[in-house]
Amino acid sequence: MLHSIGVADTAASMAEQYGADVNSARIAGLLHDWDKNLSDEQLFERAKEFNIEMLPHLEDLPALLHAQTGAAAVKREFPELDDEIIQAITRHTSAAADMTDLDMIIYIADMIEPLRSQGNLTPLRTIVGKVPLEVLFLKSFEMTMAHLIHRHRLIHPASLEVWNTYIARERNKI
Ligand SMILES: [Fe+2]
Ligand SMILES: [Fe+2]
Repeated sequence: MLHSIGVADTAASMAEQYGADVNSARIAGLLHDWDKNLSDEQLFERAKEFNIEMLPHLEDLPALLHAQTGAAAVKREFPELDDEIIQAITRHTSAAADMTDLDMIIYIADMIEPLRSQGNLTPLRTIVGKVPLEVLFLKSFEMTMAHLIHRHRLIHPASLEVWNTYIARERNKI
């Protein structure tokens, strides 16, 4: 998938700029959408197969599941891969309250890779490497939340927790 190559290249270049492991970033980028093309039914099957806990709201959000099932499938396929890579794949849609540098890089790269065209990504793309990674992540996350609200989409409760955590951290820094 061309998108995955775009994410891999973007993630590798971001890793270089932010002092993260370039190889891990490239691999996580390439593999992050491993289960992306599965149908909702197949995703639920996979979730059962890998004993992935289905939060009540998650049943409404099969699109989010591909990150978790994909990470489990990648781990089974390539057991030699570092856990950080698997974690970055797991977190690329929902994010988490304690994102590592690699988690943030994959999350952001997924949004800004060159083939992505929806929304105005220019402000985000132009600050890559110029602002701290956490600032870039919060900006990306903000865009995702705004997008969900504008489209009247469901928001996973875990995403609210991520939002509140990072906003509180930002305030404490001011
Ligand atoms: Fe994805
Ligand atoms: Fe993706």
